[in-house]
Amino acid sequence: MRNSHPAKASPELARSRILAVDDEADNVRVLGQMLRWAGYQNLDLTSDPLEAVRLFDLQTPDLVLLDLHMPVLDGFGVMDRLHVRPGDWIPFLILTGDLDPDVRERALSAGARDFVTKPFDVGEVLQRIKNLLETRQLHLQLRRHAEELEEKVRERTGQLAETQVEILYRLAIAAEHRDDVTGEHAERVGATAALIAEEMGLGTELVELMRRAAPLHDVGKIGIPDAILMKPGPLTPAEFEVMKAHTEIGTRILGRGNFPLLDMACEISRSHHERWDGKGYLGKIGEDIPLSGRIVAVADVFDTITHRRPYKEARSSEVGLACIREEAGHHFDPEVVAAFLRVAESGRLSEVAHRHSRAREGFPRELTALGLQPFREESPV
Ligand SMILES: [Fe+2]
Repeated sequence: MRNSHPAKASPELARSRILAVDDEADNVRVLGQMLRWAGYQNLDLTSDPLEAVRLFDLQTPDLVLLDLHMPVLDGFGVMDRLHVRPGDWIPFLILTGDLDPDVRERALSAGARDFVTKPFDVGEVLQRIKNLLETRQLHLQLRRHAEELEEKVRERTGQLAETQVEILYRLAIAAEHRDDVTGEHAERVGATAALIAEEMGLGTELVELMRRAAPLHDVGKIGIPDAILMKPGPLTPAEFEVMKAHTEIGTRILGRGNFPLLDMACEISRSHHERWDGKGYLGKIGEDIPLSGRIVAVADVFDTITHRRPYKEARSSEVGLACIREEAGHHFDPEVVAAFLRVAESGRLSEVAHRHSRAREGFPRELTALGLQPFREESPV
């Protein structure tokens, strides 16, 4: 901000907006001439303090030159009425003939940054104006810098969250890969679970968590041997016990995370094979089963019924809906079923099906507990 003449404005400072108010028109005129001579281009000059308040609100200045002693509204009254935004730093340069220390102290506590004594010494006034404007520029630069940093942090935080979601989604696909190479079952279960959660009035944040956590419900299948997971025939009771362990394996994989998405995914993995009537894997009953698990149970079963597997054709939505409806109060939480049926009736469920229309592979053996025997005979849950 160097300049050949110490009092002249640098090109950067010349664009600063300066508001000057003095009830004596001559003073205003002199101030105007002085400022223009120094190179300042954006000037709001007035001898009316009320007009000064209006001009300030119209376009925030970078500096206010303010006379203290004015009729109707003095300098203190003007400072009082100006709406300075929190965090903004607008310097006030007080023009006064009053050297009383009490008045100066009062002005300083009201927001004044500096004083010039009337009659003006042009060189001194311009130098003080320049100093205050340079400080104002530094303040603006700092604020811009802080805003840019905040924006970068927001961006990086968002990228990190997206990365976490993406990695977990791919983990879900990896877990499903042996019986669902496309991973679309996992994604559809997430979408359906989110629709049910939304219908049940859960907040946006929980709905989005459901959408992202539910696809991980079967992540524990990664620890089930091929011979059992992909066995074409019925499972022996011992094999079925091994199969059931996928919920516990999933819990170990997803447990002890330190962010909400992992926590919910872990809860879902552990509880999605619980039954409302207590006949599920762990024997939890009713509302002792986490709501997330009760919702995913419905979404998972419906999706499995209505999509093709190597050993069964896809059943129609009507059949799927009938199975879910019949199991309300037995396998499923009746309120979750009611919300699910409302979602289905509204047509929103078909959006999920159309978005992921490719054929499904694989079929969770535990679903035979629903009596879906055409697919194959299984050990009871
Ligand atoms: Fe499962």
